[in-house]
Amino acid sequence: MKVTIVGAGNVGATCADVISYRGIASEVVLLDIKEGFAEGKAMDIMQCAPNTGFNTRVSGITGDYSKTANSNVVVITSGIPRKPGMTREELIGINAGIVKGVAENVLKHSPDAIIVVVSNPMDTMTYLTLKATGLPKHRVIGMGGALDSSRFKYFLSKALDKPIGDIDGMVIGGHGDTTMIPLTRLASYNGMPVSNFLQQDVLDKVAADTMVGGATLTGLLGTSAWYAPGASVAYLVDSILNDQKKMIACSVFLEGEYGQNDICMGVPCIIGANGLEEIVDIHLSDDEKAKFAKSADAVRNMNADLKEVLA
Ligand code: NAI
Ligand code: 2OP
Repeated sequence: MKVTIVGAGNVGATCADVISYRGIASEVVLLDIKEGFAEGKAMDIMQCAPNTGFNTRVSGITGDYSKTANSNVVVITSGIPRKPGMTREELIGINAGIVKGVAENVLKHSPDAIIVVVSNPMDTMTYLTLKATGLPKHRVIGMGGALDSSRFKYFLSKALDKPIGDIDGMVIGGHGDTTMIPLTRLASYNGMPVSNFLQQDVLDKVAADTMVGGATLTGLLGTSAWYAPGASVAYLVDSILNDQKKMIACSVFLEGEYGQNDICMGVPCIIGANGLEEIVDIHLSDDEKAKFAKSADAVRNMNADLKEVLA
């Protein structure tokens, strides 16, 4: 199985590293526009193999899409990352042109690929990719919910002071500081509602910390995070390539689900060999429904900025 990752920067290269280390794909191609950059990242990753013991072939290329031919999955991380104080939304102008061009180029050489969109603002970039390429909705999947859900589980495990592997929880809605919806009502510790163990004010703080999780790291690091984002993409790619049919919160095109139409937003999805295999329409409380509708308004507002690039 072959995966192409466009953008060999922090997130793209980390994703390639996790995919190879975990043996998720037999071949990974990293592509970047910066001369020699993808080649260098690929070489560095390959030189881990003797010590970490993986067999995935990782190669890098500058701008030559022919080397990406017949990829099963293409991950788009190209674009600029968020700088301190910058919202994901501000990225839209620059990243829309990049993402559209990249999507068109990859499809020339991998017409059957499933595309995973990572570049921010991710829900809008996913919508753009779907509309610009005309691909069916099962083949365009935005990654954001897997990452936000990981951060949610991390903050829950800290609040509970319990192992992170014992925690379950999901974040739906938009991948934005004010648009994501951590589903605290449904989060669990070893199958038991976390509300059995944590007071409401603590749960509210966990949700708030989760929502600004990306911004907090951007403030600390000076650029946006990459370890958890790269690992989250690899987790999603694993479910596609190995037909795991995991339920993962992904940004996908909605046609009536969760009361929304003509928008890509994070909802629970079954992800397998066909990409998006099912949208799981869970029952939301009135409060969660209201948050989802508000989140959709914000994402829709941002999508309005795509008019020119989609014209
Ligand atoms: P980065 O700057 O480290 O890497 C981006 C790479 O894209 C650079 O190496 C750049 O040369 C390359 N690039 C730019 N234009 C290109 C083009 N036309 N073709 C090929 N390559 C091109 O940035 P980083 O940290 O890897 O973030 C990448 C994107 O992912 C950003 O938009 C960031 O906001 C987003 N992101 C999204 C997350 C999510 O959960 N959806 C999480 C973390 C980051
Ligand atoms: C993150 O959540 C900025 O989307 C990026 O880390």
